[in-house]
Amino acid sequence: HRDLIGISALERHEILYVLAEAEQYVEFNRQAAKHTDRLSGLTIINAFFENSTRTLLSFEIAGKRLGADVINMHAAQSSVKKGETLIDTARTLNAMRADAIVIRHGSSGAVGLIAGHVDCPVLNAGDGQHEHPTQALLDALALRHALRKRGQTSEDFTGLTVTICGDILHSRVARSNILCLQAMGASVRLCAPPALMPTGVEQIGAEPFHDFDKALDGADVVMMLRLQNERMDGQFIPSPREYRHLYGLTKERLAKASADAIVMHPGPMNRGVEIDSDVADDPSRSIITDQVEMGVAVRMACLDILTRKARGEPGWGEGE
Ligand code: CP
Repeated sequence: HRDLIGISALERHEILYVLAEAEQYVEFNRQAAKHTDRLSGLTIINAFFENSTRTLLSFEIAGKRLGADVINMHAAQSSVKKGETLIDTARTLNAMRADAIVIRHGSSGAVGLIAGHVDCPVLNAGDGQHEHPTQALLDALALRHALRKRGQTSEDFTGLTVTICGDILHSRVARSNILCLQAMGASVRLCAPPALMPTGVEQIGAEPFHDFDKALDGADVVMMLRLQNERMDGQFIPSPREYRHLYGLTKERLAKASADAIVMHPGPMNRGVEIDSDVADDPSRSIITDQVEMGVAVRMACLDILTRKARGEPGWGEGE
């Protein structure tokens, strides 16, 4: 079977395939009755060792709409609190014959580690500062829908400039999005205070900025990220007020981007810090709620694709 640990393991044609599969679920989810028995009889376990609203709920909704039995394991109420190791927890879930396990964990690499100890597909719902692949896929789908509304028909992002601004250092969303956007042909600019910019971003083809106004100049898409205070390790960062002044997306600042630049944010937002409400809630620019909608469709597609082998169909990448 195949797992979904990171965008780094996906070829461009595989990203496009997941997005194409997700399209059918966008329409499906807009119907009044949204239930299929495609995954009937399968058991999906969502094991979340970190907090989540969007990712956990959308994976749960995705599995249920596909007819699977979905079980959520909240680490705070589990035997992890009694000292059980991650691998023993993984073996326990495996012994219950899960057909897919969705995992969020605070440590980079933890989800890949678990994947090596279970027999079913593992989907990464965010691991530390490493990757959040379904976030990048849903962002790509939401962006493609927004571009179509603006009359652009290309299936990829060739010629597009995307500025990602915020706590790049700690952001698995940034990492997965850089890989996904570049695979789809976009140019990626990264903007952060010096303490929150990883070293060597030029080596992965991204352009670093510390001046937000310069990073915004002519950008087609602006993706804002929150400060991940829970992952700070003594880095010097400005106060929230200072941060808004330097790196907050205000209406005035957005005017420096291209005329109808698209605004994105993976959530959760810190309104009035990295983004102002009048930008976040502007339906002509912000696609933040579309991102959430696309999240359910993308997660349905990922669960469908990765459980094909369990359903007796050729696995992903087999029989092509
Ligand atoms: N974007 C995102 O992963 O949100 P949650 O932490 O609420 O899942």
